Amino acid sequence: MAQVHVINHPLIVHKLSLMRDKYTGPKEFREAVEEISSLLCYEATRDLPLKEVEIETPIAQTKVKFISGKKLAVVCLLRAGLGMVDGVLDLIPNAKIGHIGMYRDPDTMQPVEYYCKLPTDIASRDVIVVDPMLATGGSAIVAIQFLKNYGVQNIKLLSILAVPESISAIQEEHPDVDIFCASVDEKLNEKGYIVPGMGDAGDRLFGTK
Ligand code: PRP
Ligand code: URA
Repeated sequence: MAQVHVINHPLIVHKLSLMRDKYTGPKEFREAVEEISSLLCYEATRDLPLKEVEIETPIAQTKVKFISGKKLAVVCLLRAGLGMVDGVLDLIPNAKIGHIGMYRDPDTMQPVEYYCKLPTDIASRDVIVVDPMLATGGSAIVAIQFLKNYGVQNIKLLSILAVPESISAIQEEHPDVDIFCASVDEKLNEKGYIVPGMGDAGDRLFGTK
């Protein structure tokens, strides 16, 4: 079964508190999303394989280690996932980036896909999927299935908020995908919003409400 890693480092907790505050504007919200994403990415990449290489320092010959293994891609779920991309790229600047457009039908809460552009070699890469909100989990579940259909074998999911419902749903559909998030909140309300949550992440990032 995939693991859920709730990263409650004080730096993350502090920035998340700023994001939850309804008086925090888009600029500060965007900055906090980017910074939290870097910190989550740091944890999510803890198991990257290393290979030993012999080099010369100015003083002596020595063996050092470099990251090896498959190349990485970041796949962001539009719109809100866009806010996380730069934070991840700060740590993995050579990652290729894919976009999957998905919005949640407000009546049915079902994800509707409207766009998909992935690196052509996506099947040969390990993928970090970014979306700040896992509410019902529907959007992430569909996006991950998409990537698996393209042949991707190793996927991690980076998010900011989840709830027990989304975690169970994702674990059931994709038991191989580890989830990294900053908090598992209490529940969903009747409109499918995370409680206490931070509101509509896309609107808060882009100031559209
Ligand atoms: C938000 C969020 C997730 C989705 C989560 O996107 O970014 O993709 O909701 O909900 P779910 O887990 O129930 O599927 P939204 O549909 O609001 O689209 P937007 O990012 O374009 O605003
Ligand atoms: N999508 C959001 O942006 N926020 C929620 O609380 C739930 C889904």
